Amino acid sequence: MNGTSLIIISGFSDKDGVILNRRLSKHYQIIVINEPAEILSLLDNEVIDLLLCNHATEDFDALELLLHARKAHPETIRLLIGQLNQNEIHKAINEAAIYQFLSSDWSIDQVELLVNRALENRELSYRHRHLSREMKIAEDVLKKLQVKQHSEENNTRFDKLVYCSPSMAALCNLAKKASLTNLPVLIQGETGTGKELIARGIHQNSDRNNQPLLVHNCGGMSDELLHSELFGHKRGAFTGAISDRLGLFPAADGGTVFLDEIADISPSFQVSLLRFLQEGEVKPLGSDQIIKCDVRIITACNQPLDNLISKGLFRQDLFYRLNGFQLNIPPLRKRIKDVEVLANFLMSKFSREFNRKILGISSTVLEKFMLYHWPGNVRELENEIKRMIAITEGGAFITEASLSPHIAALQTNVNSEDRGLSLNGQSLKQKIEEIEAKIIAETLIKQRWNQSKTATELGLSRVGLANKIKRYGLASETSVA
Ligand SMILES: Nc1ncnc2c1ncn2[C@@H]1O[C@H](COP(=O)(O)OP(=O)(O)OP(=O)(O)O)[C@@H](O)[C@H]1O
Ligand SMILES: [Mg+2]
Repeated sequence: MNGTSLIIISGFSDKDGVILNRRLSKHYQIIVINEPAEILSLLDNEVIDLLLCNHATEDFDALELLLHARKAHPETIRLLIGQLNQNEIHKAINEAAIYQFLSSDWSIDQVELLVNRALENRELSYRHRHLSREMKIAEDVLKKLQVKQHSEENNTRFDKLVYCSPSMAALCNLAKKASLTNLPVLIQGETGTGKELIARGIHQNSDRNNQPLLVHNCGGMSDELLHSELFGHKRGAFTGAISDRLGLFPAADGGTVFLDEIADISPSFQVSLLRFLQEGEVKPLGSDQIIKCDVRIITACNQPLDNLISKGLFRQDLFYRLNGFQLNIPPLRKRIKDVEVLANFLMSKFSREFNRKILGISSTVLEKFMLYHWPGNVRELENEIKRMIAITEGGAFITEASLSPHIAALQTNVNSEDRGLSLNGQSLKQKIEEIEAKIIAETLIKQRWNQSKTATELGLSRVGLANKIKRYGLASETSVA
């Protein structure tokens, strides 16, 4: 039993007040007061566990008091004693939301039992909430361990990031270097460019990967909520804080915290975060206890923080603390080379997931994909491909017919019919050879002149490919018209 629970007793005669006080103070701290204003101010200033009111005397409106108490401090248990009419019972249950009531012929044993049960019940629900949260965190850790095991089995790094553009290759190299350090990382990039994927890659490749990576989106949250979410709170710290809460920073101790949409935090929360980054310790709301936490911080935002600093909306000193490594992910439209590899990767991934056999993506679709400006970046490409797979017959190619109208409407410079007409050769054999040379040159460029991969992709032997390269006079600086 919780010996420190604080109970207010009010509205009783002096004699009953003494009886109740004598019995209940064996286990609890008791305050006997009858002045409603004093009771409400006490509720505001202390954490009161239970309010026991007697609805007997004319000059003490217990129901009214309980109604106020419910609005201001719903976490305090409300018990009511007295002879009530139907109307009052209805009000007590539905408006004051009392836990239980007893009629005026109560006995002290009855009241003691009721108080014990009510407090026990609340204790159990606190523990339930606390354990649910702990379990959620444990599940997260378990999931991370499974992911780690999986990526170790595949022995790949940043295995979820697909790219072939030089800009992404340089960015991922930098990310790999960042993962070997403990420095904070700031990832900037438009929506859907893969900021979270990179953050996960950095954590997976760091020596913190056997500890949790906890992700939090800072967008649209009040300071109080953000504080309690990240630093934790003690029960009673604010209205609705009915149990202790372990913050994300303490929960991720030894691991990484990824804070998304960092540009959205208020100036006053920027100060709290800065303090945490300087001291490495948190103080949960409503607590005097300081908790040390060793976490690596990765932040992300979809607009350059520089802009906000120059407008005075983001603190420069905090920016310096977050900006250990800065990774700027280019939008998809600025790395056209990635569009085709991503489209093919996503097509295989989702056709497997949807259990659909898709033969491939037609070249017209790929050309249109490369012309489109992808405001939603890879996430938009992902959605487009998922939708196209869903409406494509099994065993067929994804064609223009299943493209979204705004992408289908784009005009490609060269359509497949024009291609044939613009060939220079006279005879059919010459025209076919010209097409063959173009396809080989295109594939060589795509495979960065890796002849084994090119031969495999085109279904040729290495010697066969080498002969054709020689015959058509292709060289590594070859460009495709
Ligand atoms: N290079 C990539 N290779 C494979 N998948 C990618 C790549 N980049 C992004 N994705 C996929 O695109 C989707 C969006 O990525 P992610 O959530 O990491 O983007 P984000 O930048 O965090 O977006 P937002 O700003 O909207 O939060 C995810 O499903 C992710 O797996
Ligand atoms: Mg994100």
